[in-house]
Amino acid sequence: MNVDYPTLAAVIGSLAEGETDEVALMATVACEVHHSDDRFDWTGFYRVSGPSMLKIGPYQGGHGCLAIPFDKGVCGAAARTGTIQIVADVEAFPGHIACSSTTRSEIVLPVFGKGGRLIGVFDIDSDQPDAFSSADGRGLEAILRSVFGAL
Ligand code: SME
Repeated sequence: MNVDYPTLAAVIGSLAEGETDEVALMATVACEVHHSDDRFDWTGFYRVSGPSMLKIGPYQGGHGCLAIPFDKGVCGAAARTGTIQIVADVEAFPGHIACSSTTRSEIVLPVFGKGGRLIGVFDIDSDQPDAFSSADGRGLEAILRSVFGAL
């Protein structure tokens, strides 16, 4: 069954209340989002670690590659453009980085802190083709804004 985003947002908001540590918040969001929907096979963060470089952060699922430059992959595209990337077929995305051979579709959102500071990206992989919609983008974006927007 697909996730109910308002309910998920309320659960995460309650768990995150009063917390300002970025890694603790990322770990909580990755865990709760991952277990909220069977479509989600890999769920996690890549953090901005330097000019045009992302490094892996808290995640759930199999091994994720450790470093992604802004000019590579779906994560790099989200970081570079500051826009949500919804990929219906990862094999059709030029430069897709396959951390798992079973991934068929993906959504990646930029994560912004206070003043629009790019903190990193939030990545969800699915073994189902065309698993993500704009409703997922809206629901996840609202959660990320609520948790990280004031950091
Ligand atoms: N698929 C991502 C790389 C991260 S792994 O999926 C966890 C990309 O193309 O940027």
